[in-house]
Amino acid sequence: MNNGDTLRKLLRDADAKGYAIPAFNFSDIWDFKAIVEAAEEEEAPIMIASNPLVVAELSPAICAGFGLAAMKQAKAPVILHLDHSFKTEMCKDCIDEGYPSVMIDASKYDLETNIAMVREVMDYAKENHVHVEAEIGKIKGKGIEGDFKGGDFLAAVEDAKALVEATHVDSLAVGIGSAHGFYQGKPELNFERLAQINAAIDTPLVLHGGTGIPKEDIQRAIKEGINKVNVGTIIHCTYMNNLRAELNRVGENPYTLDVMKAVYPKVKEVVKGWIRVCMANGKA
Ligand code: 13P
Repeated sequence: MNNGDTLRKLLRDADAKGYAIPAFNFSDIWDFKAIVEAAEEEEAPIMIASNPLVVAELSPAICAGFGLAAMKQAKAPVILHLDHSFKTEMCKDCIDEGYPSVMIDASKYDLETNIAMVREVMDYAKENHVHVEAEIGKIKGKGIEGDFKGGDFLAAVEDAKALVEATHVDSLAVGIGSAHGFYQGKPELNFERLAQINAAIDTPLVLHGGTGIPKEDIQRAIKEGINKVNVGTIIHCTYMNNLRAELNRVGENPYTLDVMKAVYPKVKEVVKGWIRVCMANGKA
């Protein structure tokens, strides 16, 4: 089966069995390795996501190269994904390189423009069965994936319905109060709105801004209809903080592999914890 179709099947399975597919952001080959090994050891289906900054820096071809190799070799279902592309061109470039899943985030535009951009990517994705995620409402906070501080973040049920009816998009990220980056205070998720959107449409729903949301809230969101949970900040912060600690420990003239072999297992432990929070362990 093509990997886009595999993802559609995994999201349906997650919905039926009451867990979520976690999607982890990677920045290089070492956190990528940590994420894939965590999925294998937890026997979990996961998504491994490159954000547009990483794709722009490393190139769609290199990111696709990592992902295609992992999708072939890994002992668990691992699906490569382009996270939060604000441009249709990057979605197309990644599709050309073999990505099975892309996100077009046109949530900052009006509904009509959002629909038009999602349609454009859906049309391009069709031939290769590529899975497409869109966004309605807005993800709060400041992070690599965007910066939104306004009050009108909440996804409207009618907008979610209209976007899905007009585009038949495969999955939908919903603005329900979650934020990219670390939270200031306790996250306040609007579970009522989530349940309303879930009742109105059949499309798998995605929760962004996983870092910092307590386990109980993640699991409640899954119960109310979330099928995919995005986690980024805690991955790169764990990676970089442990890298600094290890470099300080070993002192001058370290060898890359020695340092990385000490650091990446720390990232793997965090990923495993999130797989369990999403209840995806043992679901491969
Ligand atoms: P965090 O960085 O807050 O975990 O969010 C990740 C995310 O939503 C990526 O799209």
